[in-house]
Amino acid sequence: MENIEGKTAFITGGASGIGLGISKVFARNGMKVVIVDSRQDALDEAMAYFKENGGEVHPINLNVTDREAYVKAADEAEKVFGKIHVLVNNAGVGSGGGPTEKLTYKDWDYSMGVNVGGVINGVMTILPRILKHGEGGHIITTSSTCGLVGSSNFAIYCTTKFAVTGMMECLASELQDRNIGVSVLYPGPTMGNLGLSSFVNRPEHLRNEGETWPPKMPPPPKDGRPRRSPDDFKVVMMDPVETGERVLRGIKRNDLFIHTHPEFTNGYKARHDALIWATSWCGGNAALQRSLEYERERRGNLRLLLSRFGLVLESTNSERKRIVQGVKSYFTKSQFGQSENSLYCGAQRGYKKVRQFPKLNCRS
Ligand SMILES: NC(=O)c1ccc[n+]([C@@H]2O[C@H](COP(=O)([O-])OP(=O)(O)OC[C@H]3O[C@@H](n4cnc5c(N)ncnc54)[C@H](O)[C@@H]3O)[C@@H](O)[C@H]2O)c1
Repeated sequence: MENIEGKTAFITGGASGIGLGISKVFARNGMKVVIVDSRQDALDEAMAYFKENGGEVHPINLNVTDREAYVKAADEAEKVFGKIHVLVNNAGVGSGGGPTEKLTYKDWDYSMGVNVGGVINGVMTILPRILKHGEGGHIITTSSTCGLVGSSNFAIYCTTKFAVTGMMECLASELQDRNIGVSVLYPGPTMGNLGLSSFVNRPEHLRNEGETWPPKMPPPPKDGRPRRSPDDFKVVMMDPVETGERVLRGIKRNDLFIHTHPEFTNGYKARHDALIWATSWCGGNAALQRSLEYERERRGNLRLLLSRFGLVLESTNSERKRIVQGVKSYFTKSQFGQSENSLYCGAQRGYKKVRQFPKLNCRS
């Protein structure tokens, strides 16, 4: 969809974080934007921004799990702006982490309801409307790096984000000749309010006993290292407006997959190698081993991303060498010290591989 000016976008979770970043970019590029969210305070705050900065934006308070209300919201959007051309299924929750045996059905139902059910409701309500007006359009769904690779303690989140990956791939092939593009967005760590919003949006009947906000912090590291503050993490997280720009580019180019953080690439490759190997000449154990290596690498990457090493790399060779050594000794001391299979260091947004995965010996 190259010409987006004057077209209408319906963005769920549009009042905060990634959804708000997408809304800002769409609005400043001449789109009409309906921001949809279940938190009225977030909608009010977002609208104050648009009043000050301009943009044709209309807010709707909607819980995406409510099918009847979804239809009414789509009717309202059409009444205000005419046809809907772009659907952004972005509303999501991140509740229910931890060992799977400790999860509750309430954890599962809450996340499946929003992250999968909300996307189903969006597609079922709005796709027929886009098809009906015949002017073309685009459907995009926010998945996660967890929608491409499994990770321990993230069973619920990964399940939901894998599900929407599959759904969007199916839609892309169904709609390819009908002038409707389809994308899946895979954000890496991005500034937003997922923890807080997942807590406040959780309906009473799906709450676990004793849940509180903010959550209890884990104990500090045993080796005496100081605990990092959340502000440390913020400096390495992507600005959602940058994510929004990538989304707009993806829509214009009709990219099926839209990524934000290249340092996860080798992990994706490891997983998909494992899949392919398991189908042919490599045994199942090799595939599992590869996945486990990936898991270590992923932890290493996250650790790296959340550490400040990532901000300064790569001005000169000697500086790079020094930082790489620093990173290595950091890892030796850290709880993820085993993640020596592969290290990635970031030079601002361009992440550099500094150590390669060992190749598996596959018996043919
Ligand atoms: N921030 C990250 O690092 C990150 C990484 C990968 C994927 N994601 C995904 O990106 C999306 C946006 O996350 P974010 O980080 O911007 O969080 P956020 O909390 O800043 O924004 C999400 C918005 O969705 C709204 N929402 C939640 N449930 C809703 C419902 N049932 N109906 C309507 N609105 C609802 C919330 O009120 C919130 O305003 C989510 O799908 C999340 O899983 C985020």
